[in-house]
Amino acid sequence: MHAMQMTPDHPVLLRIVDDLVAHGWSQQSVFVPDALTGALAAECRRRAAAGELEPAAVGRGPAQEVREKVRGDRIQWLEPGQVEVCDQYLSIMDSLRMALNRGLFLGLEDFESHFAQYPPGAFYRRHLDRFRDDDRRMVSAVLYLNPDWQAGQGGQLRMYLGNDQPHDVDPVGGCLVVFLSGEVPHEVLPACRDRLSLTGWFRRRGDDPFP
Ligand code: OGA
Ligand code: MN
Repeated sequence: MHAMQMTPDHPVLLRIVDDLVAHGWSQQSVFVPDALTGALAAECRRRAAAGELEPAAVGRGPAQEVREKVRGDRIQWLEPGQVEVCDQYLSIMDSLRMALNRGLFLGLEDFESHFAQYPPGAFYRRHLDRFRDDDRRMVSAVLYLNPDWQAGQGGQLRMYLGNDQPHDVDPVGGCLVVFLSGEVPHEVLPACRDRLSLTGWFRRRGDDPFP
């Protein structure tokens, strides 16, 4: 596949920065081309079939535990330098990191992300992405990897945005949602089919309380 380039001054990245400044969140329905979404989805499915995804935990450090009544997804953290498609995604997100630093002065230093698979019926209860004991996560970004998702199959990301009605996003392949980690409570509703995504967090400098 032809490698996709996105520099920090790409119009779609500037739009995300503007949205975050104005509203604290952004939704880009066609963020990456179908070919890249498809390749990332195939890589996620390959890892799931190889048994590499593990039940996601809640919390940090010693308090971390698997609680399926809170979240029922299976995840694997991404490492750079493993597969070309994942490196492409990480490179795009690094450009977004630089765009965010230029526009929002957040001092974002790194990006951590994982593949996530929600089996049918799995959900993630309402939560904030910033931990009480570790406030390095500043901006959350979720890229959906479900090319043929149909409205009515569930699996929406539901965001609670102040006084408005909650905003629901269908996890349609190629769609990217970005929001301020400490400010937007959200949840994942159950779906009637597998739901795949790449979820990640831009973090600022700080001490790891659980090195
Ligand atoms: C998370 C999360 C949202 C989604 O992993 O913290 O909220 O739509 N994911 O997958
Ligand atoms: Mn979350």
